Amino acid sequence: MAARSLGRGLGRLLGRLREGRAPRRAASGGSGSVPAAAPASYQALSAQAARDPAAFWGPLARDSLVWDAPYHTVCDCDLRGGRVGWFLGGQLNVSVNCLDQHVQKSPESIALIWERDEPGTEVRVTYRELLETTCRLANTLKRHGVRRGDRVAIYMPVSPLAVASMLACARIGAVHTVVFAGFSAESLAGRINDAKCKVVITFNQGLRGGRVVELKKVVDEAVKHCPTIQHVLVAHRTDSKVHMGDLDVPLEQEMAREDPVCTPESMGSEDMLFLLYTSGSTGTPKGLVHTQAGYLLYAALTHRLVFDYRPGDIFGCVADIGWITGHSYVVYGPLCNGATSVLFESTPVYPDAGRYWEMVQRLRISQFYGAPTAVRLLLKYGDSWVRKYDRSSLRTLGSVGEPINHEAWEWLHKVVGESRCTLVDTWWQTETGGICIAPRPSEEGAEILPGMAMRPFFGIIPVLMDEEGNVVEGCDVSGALCLSQAWPGMARTIYGDHQRFLDAYFRAYPGYYFTGDGALRTQGGYYQITGRMDDVINISGHRLGTAEIEDAMAAHPAVPETAVIGYPHDIKGEAAFAFIVLKDDAGDADVVMRELRATVASKIAKYAVPDQILVVKRLPKTRSGKVMRRLLKKIITGKAQDLGDTTTLEDPGVITEILSTYQKHRDKRAAAQ
Ligand code: WT7
Repeated sequence: MAARSLGRGLGRLLGRLREGRAPRRAASGGSGSVPAAAPASYQALSAQAARDPAAFWGPLARDSLVWDAPYHTVCDCDLRGGRVGWFLGGQLNVSVNCLDQHVQKSPESIALIWERDEPGTEVRVTYRELLETTCRLANTLKRHGVRRGDRVAIYMPVSPLAVASMLACARIGAVHTVVFAGFSAESLAGRINDAKCKVVITFNQGLRGGRVVELKKVVDEAVKHCPTIQHVLVAHRTDSKVHMGDLDVPLEQEMAREDPVCTPESMGSEDMLFLLYTSGSTGTPKGLVHTQAGYLLYAALTHRLVFDYRPGDIFGCVADIGWITGHSYVVYGPLCNGATSVLFESTPVYPDAGRYWEMVQRLRISQFYGAPTAVRLLLKYGDSWVRKYDRSSLRTLGSVGEPINHEAWEWLHKVVGESRCTLVDTWWQTETGGICIAPRPSEEGAEILPGMAMRPFFGIIPVLMDEEGNVVEGCDVSGALCLSQAWPGMARTIYGDHQRFLDAYFRAYPGYYFTGDGALRTQGGYYQITGRMDDVINISGHRLGTAEIEDAMAAHPAVPETAVIGYPHDIKGEAAFAFIVLKDDAGDADVVMRELRATVASKIAKYAVPDQILVVKRLPKTRSGKVMRRLLKKIITGKAQDLGDTTTLEDPGVITEILSTYQKHRDKRAAAQ
């Protein structure tokens, strides 16, 4: 089909969305029919995006973004070489796309609703106000020496100032790296040093679930070990006075003195927009690099089409901005689309288990996007916490970050969504920039099946690989999930280590992007994600390498060896189980275990602390000395009778030894409960 007719198809699709006339949901029934944002055109558009990505994405980028200068090349990508470039030659500013364009049309429309920790005290921020705050912050950054290309760390909980900090960096061409405010000083320092940040922006304190979080103290501790940091900009979330040292700058005070106008830098499409650190199966966290135009376009388009976002909607993504979900679906996607985006500062159970739904009622939220771990937690509290509140404003429910189990899916769909809302389970990664596989956009009338991530988004071509690296065809098959074509939102490199980028994502299956996940393709071409295939675990939706936990524990002098394994957990999805070997003179094992927990919390974060620690005499190893984690996993998941091939074990006796230690530990725990 000619590019012209494709352009028309997309034009119609986007036109409808712009006018707020996205096609209505088909009459729903059963587990919900698909309210296709692009009925009938899904298949044709998908085929087009697959056949001719440049003809698909070119007109979309031209029409949906505000450019300073047009691009000359839509796509210059070669997955074999791990080379990805989009909209080359184009110039734009992301903050102009997220703010100025909307301020010109409707300055008083609401950009952000800050749902503060204290319920009922939400703050609304208009696009005009957000632009002014962003410009004052941008000018403050410039006055403190931040230039185009410099890196800025943001260690702040979800708040309008955090969003303004991200956009202020974008405005002056600086590169932000948001560090989740639950990370320890050591984790923060590691990221700052890897990115060579010049400035950190933080708050005096944070508030979460009614508790004070000492953010500034963590930053003080971190920057002692960060020679590149020149200033710490400190904003105020509470009235508490914190010690201000030589590096510290009172942010609000400085901003008040600055001009509320700041000329945006004109950035190349492929200039860096942000770094975001995430865990791999080995080594320290890697700083994934996302760039300007492709990332923004992909975040905005997926936000519109997957969630069926329409003008006037209140979009409620409860993720923290420290994760990619917050970047793409709290900040960049919604703001580029001129939406009203909710910033959720609290927790799902503060002050009680009705928090989300009371907020939905009070703010009239149209789309609610959250993590299965919170759903699993809430469903245990019972339905009354949900039914108490009016959820009639809700149209779309979204799930992200980990597989959603059947029970959680049903509860979210039936109880929260009254079997009336569309539930979209969305699969994607820090690396992919935006949603890749989800039930929408899809054909009208297609059924949404529980627990299925469903269909690829436009331009996403999933491929399953077998162990020999052959493409697995057909239905009811599984394999390593790869994507065979570049899309605009994908990460471009790992900051400072392009080779690691190539090795991690493009080496296993040459010519393909390897996701690290396994997947199943069912009848009708639906995809279901089966989980990570590497040593990455997912604790409450937080991604973590088991090697990171092992490295943290290795710092303890009494513990020469450890092996950390992920195992299924009711609420968290997965939890960490640590096998440890103690030195003969280690002393009291309980004391060592307590110290180990504290070490992991201070080296990584509290959520990384293993739920169970078991002392064993030795670990199962191959003759070449590699720990056979596969066997340990079988033991703790009750599959010890089916260990598979154990011929490479140096001493098969180790299995009976560990198994009996484990069984005693398990029985003791069961008795204690
Ligand atoms: C890993 C990526 C996507 C933003 C938040 C997490 C797992 C993510 C799903 C889903 C099953 C999922 C995968 C993926 N994951 N979404 N809908 N169903 N698994 O981003 O921290 O980069 O983690 O989360 O294992 O590889 P992330």
